[in-house]
Amino acid sequence: MKIIRKDTADSTNEVAKVLVAEGAESWTVVVAEKQVEGKGRFGRRWFSPRGGLYVSVAILEDLERLPVVSLSTGLAVALTLEEEGVEAQLKWPNDVLVEGRKIAGVLVEGLTRPPAYWGIVGVGVNSNSRLEDYPKELREEVTTLRSELGHRVDNASLLETLLASLKEVYPGRGDEPTAVSRYRERCAILGKDIAVQTVDGMVRGIALDINPSGFLVVETSDGEVEVAEGTILPDS
Ligand code: BTN
Repeated sequence: MKIIRKDTADSTNEVAKVLVAEGAESWTVVVAEKQVEGKGRFGRRWFSPRGGLYVSVAILEDLERLPVVSLSTGLAVALTLEEEGVEAQLKWPNDVLVEGRKIAGVLVEGLTRPPAYWGIVGVGVNSNSRLEDYPKELREEVTTLRSELGHRVDNASLLETLLASLKEVYPGRGDEPTAVSRYRERCAILGKDIAVQTVDGMVRGIALDINPSGFLVVETSDGEVEVAEGTILPDS
């Protein structure tokens, strides 16, 4: 696994995309100390102060497997945090939370390098950043590993654990990936009444399950609906 280290990046996902276009090998990793244009899901900004862990892995992958890859990445982050002594929950699709506050996020983007398809797996962990490093409006919603533990962590060993966890849970082909069943165990929303914002509108109902493709199954008043992509509203 080749690891490219940067002090500052616009977005490690964007750096990884350029590397793929230039012929990088699968499982090339980009890590930065800080990002100036960190990206979250749905075009949102990912606030990326120094002290956090910002990493992207470029992986040769099929387009239709990206939702499961994305869930598996959230699981790998949760396992990594557990190794550090912090119990984390997953909010579909891949927000990583500690007692309801976001500690890490995952952004998987697809890319073609003809004839193959690639996934750019981006992970941001609020590791050594402090709550004071975040804008006031975010301080109630986020937490950091440092504030949970009361001491600094070593970002280099955090990265090592994360990459090892990702390799371990990375979905195989064929049967339902075991990552999905392990994901379900840590999923904070199953059985709850939720509202999911999707590109086709709002889906409301009970979060029933995560299917083998990584979609959220919701029991609505009109029957079961499988949601491929969306955001669960915070107060649902
Ligand atoms: C989210 O929760 O909305 C996803 C956040 C993903 C942030 C990571 S940090 C490393 C990689 N580079 C980016 O610009 N975004 C991802």
